[in-house]
Amino acid sequence: MEPEIFINFKHYENAVGNNCEKLLNDFSNLKDNNIYYCLSYIDLRLNSKFNNLKIFSQSVDVNDYGAFTGSVSMESLMSIGIHGSLLNHSENRINEENIIRILEKSKNNNFTIVLCAENIEEIKKYSKFEPDYIAYEPPELIGGNISVSNAKPEIIEEAGKICKNRTKLLVGAGVKTKEDIDRSMDLGAHGVLIASGIIRDPKPINKLISLTHTR
Ligand code: G3P
Repeated sequence: MEPEIFINFKHYENAVGNNCEKLLNDFSNLKDNNIYYCLSYIDLRLNSKFNNLKIFSQSVDVNDYGAFTGSVSMESLMSIGIHGSLLNHSENRINEENIIRILEKSKNNNFTIVLCAENIEEIKKYSKFEPDYIAYEPPELIGGNISVSNAKPEIIEEAGKICKNRTKLLVGAGVKTKEDIDRSMDLGAHGVLIASGIIRDPKPINKLISLTHTR
């Protein structure tokens, strides 16, 4: 099985606004079908230009249309062709009640949710709602150089067993190399969620190519 790679652009300077478009231009030459691009809200408009890429939002709000200043609803995302989102990232946590409501709503709308979880307790709790994906990311490793696959192998294995065939398991935090990805897969993950390893690299496109060559 080829790993699915979710790239979180976060709000890095070289990955938002006009710079986001430049990065996507580079990435759009890749033929790999297993790559997902998680963009900031202001860049989701680029979905119409890069309709060959799988573009996800970095979050989604619980509300429908209406008087909800500053919010971004699932409906509004779908209206511009976005059909998936990260949710509950460590840098943008959502309360439990809203997570459950968003998960239920996503199923009715065929909208894909990558639900982030910080520990095994959260994975146990939310796997009952069968999100499409759970992304296990220990917060203390995010943005660092120690990969989750090296630091937390036993938790990845346990998470894989909990998710079984119902939910695809992604792992993230400190993932920088093809070895990190292969090790995550060997431990039971379906793919990875990665940010700085690609976005903060001096040549993001070359880095991404080096992560996608088959073993
Ligand atoms: O969402 C991905 C993320 O939080 C991991 O960040 O920079 O450790 O790859 P990074």
